[in-house]
Amino acid sequence: MSRFYVTTPIYYVNDIPHIGHSYTTIAADILARYNRLRGREVFFLTGTDEHGQKVEKAAREQNRSPKEHSDLMVENFKHLWVKLNISNDAFIRTTDGEHFKTVQGLIQMLWDTGEIEKREYTGWYCTPDERFWTEKEIIDGKCPECGRPVEHLEEENYFFLMSGYQKDLIEYIDRNPSYILPETRRNEVLGFLKNNTLGDLCISRPKSRLSWGIPLPFDESYVTYVWFDALVNYFSATRYLAPHAEKAKLGDFWWPASHHIIGKDILTTHAVYWSTMLMALKLPLPENIFAHGWWTVDGKKMSKSFGNVVDPNEMIEKYGADAFRYFLFREVPFGLDGDFSEHALINRTNTDLANDLGNLLSRTLTMIEKYRGGKIPDPIDSKDRKQLEGKIKARFDPGSETGISGSFNGALTHLQFHHALIQLWDLIKELNEYIASSVPWKETDSDILSNTLYTLAESLRLTALYLYPFMPDAAQNIWSQLGISADINSSNFEELGTWGRLKPGTTIQKTRQLFPRIDTKKENLVKKNPGHKNTRDNVITLDEFAKVELKVGQVLKADRVKGSHKLIKLQVDTGEMRQIVAGIGKTYAPEDLSGKKIVVVTNLQPAQLMGVESQGMLLAATDSNGTLSLLIPEKDIQKGAIIK
Ligand code: ME8
Repeated sequence: MSRFYVTTPIYYVNDIPHIGHSYTTIAADILARYNRLRGREVFFLTGTDEHGQKVEKAAREQNRSPKEHSDLMVENFKHLWVKLNISNDAFIRTTDGEHFKTVQGLIQMLWDTGEIEKREYTGWYCTPDERFWTEKEIIDGKCPECGRPVEHLEEENYFFLMSGYQKDLIEYIDRNPSYILPETRRNEVLGFLKNNTLGDLCISRPKSRLSWGIPLPFDESYVTYVWFDALVNYFSATRYLAPHAEKAKLGDFWWPASHHIIGKDILTTHAVYWSTMLMALKLPLPENIFAHGWWTVDGKKMSKSFGNVVDPNEMIEKYGADAFRYFLFREVPFGLDGDFSEHALINRTNTDLANDLGNLLSRTLTMIEKYRGGKIPDPIDSKDRKQLEGKIKARFDPGSETGISGSFNGALTHLQFHHALIQLWDLIKELNEYIASSVPWKETDSDILSNTLYTLAESLRLTALYLYPFMPDAAQNIWSQLGISADINSSNFEELGTWGRLKPGTTIQKTRQLFPRIDTKKENLVKKNPGHKNTRDNVITLDEFAKVELKVGQVLKADRVKGSHKLIKLQVDTGEMRQIVAGIGKTYAPEDLSGKKIVVVTNLQPAQLMGVESQGMLLAATDSNGTLSLLIPEKDIQKGAIIK
């Protein structure tokens, strides 16, 4: 059985996940699910990058140790992946003991073979990107990658002698056209390598400057800097987290990876640093590094300061994981940049999912209910209709030239997700046309009608298999409504991918609509009138209201959040201490707030505001003149008192 190993970047834990992180992880999930369907043994890895200056700084701001901070933040990723139906086989954290050991082992190996040298380092460092830059590379004193200020460094450090691999790397990329994809990114890397002299790579920081890292085994007064530690995750996970990790330790069971899926922001670190590190370690290079494009929102970079960061949790709650997954991969060709808009997501859901797919299922099931008592009929072949049904059957025949199998496989092998979906939707449209041309509701020949209904139901069963990598819940739902009790997660094409596996006589289980239409008027109404949510559409039940836990809290300390006019960070005692960040800084000065008793929502999921964690929300009212007032209990009442 062939093996398939796919990875995502390991995400920094200084921040909470947004749609960009979801995008890469869903891409890897689609590939993992698809390859499992093809009967391959799959290892799908994701995880978190927990060392480095950035995480150390974020932790310090929260008065936590870096490990405590990482332990808390990592849950945001893990929860989101569950909600998004991510089927990762393992989750690596760079603070795992086993990873630690592998990094030290590999770095020692490079030291022993003379691939690492100690030198004076004079240059610049960008903490947000955790990258070293030379004098020549920085632009107007700023990081060339992200445009943020850089810090000047002069310190002795260890260097990996990357420059010696420039020629080998160019040759390797030239010889392997699909090593770096898409082609534009490949050309970018080749152009860079052919027109510049590759320097050596600084891989350490003195412990006195950065303690949150992995100590160099040959000099404990240094830790390895984030990229060396982070990139090694792809290899180290195969040796303790992967299935059959014991076998992987002995040889090449999982390594090299099939695909490293990354965003274009970290192309150089993967295509140049990681490739040359592997060359020096005499390990094979991954089969492919795919750098996808960048999501913006309303044409702007997503950023906390613009306040336009799209929370994937909110999208899932509003539209469901499947619609969100579908939208991201249908809307923009993988590799290109895309602009996220909720409006476009709603349109896609209504046209492709509710109309094309949802109606196909509901019309088919309704006819089976009406004309065949809710049981899948026997497909009695009818000579007159051979051509019509034959064409549809051929579309699902894995051996046929017009079959979906080949084109879908071709698209997914090249990570052209949108192309795979276009192929599939062509088929769904054909099935809708087939209903229109068969006119089952006028059919008087019972055999022909049975055959038509079977053809539709069986087509839907097979369509669900193809949909599954993109929309696992919807695929299972289609099967359940067709009366199939099998778990689609453990199915495969070989066993179930051929025509005729749907058993006649199966009782269908028609339930709710697969994708109810989203009323755009309603969506707009809520968005445009946020202050008037108590229209009928927004009525909540008493039970729903009772979920909100409100308490009286006393402000013990208040400070402005650095860099913000609006945000104030409050330490509030609600019977337990909690930190709350509130946008009240234009009306209240921190010194006005100390000692005040206020009303606090205490069971709100923690959120990050300008990198500062808020564990709840205080209540305040704003009128149409923009006057803001805190809600304060009318009598002096004990802190921690429950409001109901
Ligand atoms: O760079 N559009 O972690 P990170 C599309 N720890 N994708 C986006 C995106 C956007 N707007 N924003 C983020 C790191 N991403 C390192 C990686 S790997 C050994 C170490 C996705 O938390 C995209 O995949 O900054 C990008 O490469 C990644 O998140 C960066 O995540």
